[in-house]
Amino acid sequence: MKLVATILLLAVLGVTSDAKNIRATPITDEELLALSKDLHINDVNGAIVKLDLQGKTTIGDITTDNAPSRLFVSDLADVFTRPTFAAALELFNNYARNYSVQEQFTPEQLAEEVAFIDLVMETSVMQVLHQFLISKGYFTEDVQEFKQFLWNKWFARWSVYVPGVVASSGWEHTYLGESGSDEILYGFESWIQVYNEEEYGHLNYLGYIEVIETESTTVLSLPILLNGNHVSYKPFSNLNVGVSPELELALGTLCYITRDGVDEPCVFQTSDAIEYAMDVHSIDYNGVNYIENSHTTFGEEED
Ligand SMILES: *[C@@H]1O[C@H](CO)[C@@H](O)[C@H](O)[C@H]1NC(C)=O
Repeated sequence: MKLVATILLLAVLGVTSDAKNIRATPITDEELLALSKDLHINDVNGAIVKLDLQGKTTIGDITTDNAPSRLFVSDLADVFTRPTFAAALELFNNYARNYSVQEQFTPEQLAEEVAFIDLVMETSVMQVLHQFLISKGYFTEDVQEFKQFLWNKWFARWSVYVPGVVASSGWEHTYLGESGSDEILYGFESWIQVYNEEEYGHLNYLGYIEVIETESTTVLSLPILLNGNHVSYKPFSNLNVGVSPELELALGTLCYITRDGVDEPCVFQTSDAIEYAMDVHSIDYNGVNYIENSHTTFGEEED
């Protein structure tokens, strides 16, 4: 539990390391293609997910239903018992989606976040990423240092919607999504949560906007309408359906480290060499840069 102790100390001191190593060498587009393909090939925990795409729709159309049936055909109960999926799912109830509500930050929540990071670091996906970043001078062999970096960038809390209300983290924004007094939903880019919301009966799939189908994954954009206790919507969300939580984290981390602040997406490749793009947005809060949102993209602008 060394990481827990370090994070607690840093959280108390209000310090987070902002590792951007000056010895690091730039990573080329060709290297991003090759590495991302390698990460996809290593994604043994990834799920083969059967979708029923049905009708096509357009950005922001939440009034026409072009898809009478559900999106997800596969039952993923077994997949969700795989250790990294189970650890990711443990995190969902740790955050309030309402960005007007200050986030709780309990030792139990921190322990779950650390357990998740520990588990994903045992996968070959995260180890391949770590070794690549070491070879390029971004990190040392110190695994604790890399775990600390992951926690800082994805799990440290920040404030953006309501001044003084610390209601967000990159992982929460990307996976759970955030909404507040109006009906607009922000973030919400994880296929796992879209699956969950459809299972709960909170999400009515309305059709797809764009799709890239590959041998193992489906890159998909779709409008989102949630009808839970609170109605909220998003003109479109971009998913990478089938990737494991570790691959989703690895790709977002890679894009953040190599292309943050660059006005171009990361172009990645699947295991069968099909190209798709990913965007990671960051945010500065109290002088530290954090991941805000991480998702595949078809080139549209989004929050
Ligand atoms: C979010 O929280 C604020 C402040 O507590 C409250 O006024 C608002 O109704 C909440 N919104 C939803 C959708 O629960």
